[in-house]
Amino acid sequence: MGLLLRRLSDLPIREGRRVLVRVDYNLPLRDGHLLDDSRLRESLPTLKYLLQHRTKIILLSHLGRPKGKPLTELRLDPAAHRLGELLNIRVHKLDDCVGPRVEAFIAQMKPGEIVLLENVRFHSEEEANNEQFAQKLAGLGDCYVNDAFGTAHRAHASTYGVARLLPSAAGLLLEQEITMLQRVREHPARPFVVIVGGAKLADKIGVLKDLVAKADAFLLGGCIAFTLLKAQGASVGSSLVDEQLLDEARLFLAAARERSVRVFLPQDVQIAQEATANLQWAVSRADAIPDGWQGWDIGPQTIKTFQDQIRDAKTIVWAGPLGRFEQPPFDRGTREVARAVAASGGFAVIGGGDTAAALRQSECASAQNIYCSTGGGATLEFLGGRKLPPIEILRLPD
Ligand code: 3PG
Repeated sequence: MGLLLRRLSDLPIREGRRVLVRVDYNLPLRDGHLLDDSRLRESLPTLKYLLQHRTKIILLSHLGRPKGKPLTELRLDPAAHRLGELLNIRVHKLDDCVGPRVEAFIAQMKPGEIVLLENVRFHSEEEANNEQFAQKLAGLGDCYVNDAFGTAHRAHASTYGVARLLPSAAGLLLEQEITMLQRVREHPARPFVVIVGGAKLADKIGVLKDLVAKADAFLLGGCIAFTLLKAQGASVGSSLVDEQLLDEARLFLAAARERSVRVFLPQDVQIAQEATANLQWAVSRADAIPDGWQGWDIGPQTIKTFQDQIRDAKTIVWAGPLGRFEQPPFDRGTREVARAVAASGGFAVIGGGDTAAALRQSECASAQNIYCSTGGGATLEFLGGRKLPPIEILRLPD
């Protein structure tokens, strides 16, 4: 049975209505410059729908993890600017998301106008899902649309609290993500291969464990692989290891073994010596990395093993680059795997901005069999079978 959500057409959307829209403009920025505008582009269909209906659009988003304090570098001005270019209209931007100034601005908005409020995480009440804060946000709109699939695994005031207080529905992006991902969650064609890389095992170990019940094989690279290798007793040199997670890593490996799910960790890696003027690099066995050297990418043997598994896969989920993609030659593993995924006959879901960027740079993102989700953590949690509160609250009764 599919997951059916309340839709935009279920809301009283009419000219002049104030529509509060939660988007995920957690965008990659460097020195105030936007590195990738995909999440802005993906929000356009909902915004165009609301503009066509001559509503007043009030956008809410977070950016980064400012821990409840305003931080200049995490203001949303670059997002407002770029969104204005994409929509070809002025997108107003305010310096807060609640308070008298915000209320006064919204009170004088005209139909067809759009305003982006400031980063909701500048208030600690956002992540605490504080009831009063949710009420203040809810007071700014007549109805609420959640189009922030990337943040759907966070039950915060702007993703969950507000939805309980206003007539609410899923935006077009959220609806599309659920439709595409449900296909993999409910009926994955087999073999089902999960590829995970990236830096933070803490964010991923829970879903890796969830996915043991669904996947046929795991291909693991990136930084996270070194904690798993160490948990198996490997010498990983100076590679980054999350010592706190060694036990969790062992539990994941044991659960996979128990269900006969195959886990492929790197056999060989490209290693580099940190902090040298001329970067020294070499290929090493993954379980015998010399001291002072760090693993920065999967090696040629591992690439071959991963390619062999991907070739036969019918469903692929991939989140997180397999090496330091931004720094050649440590982009090779991710590039080769991207090509293998694009060439496979399987349906592939790509999660997370870094993986999608790596795919684009490898000129594979437009392959017919690939769906790039806007979510990273949210995509994995949804596919792992978890109930995500911001989505559950928009559900139509079964
Ligand atoms: C993401 O980019 O994965 C989402 O915007 C969620 O961000 P968070 O992990 O800081 O909650």
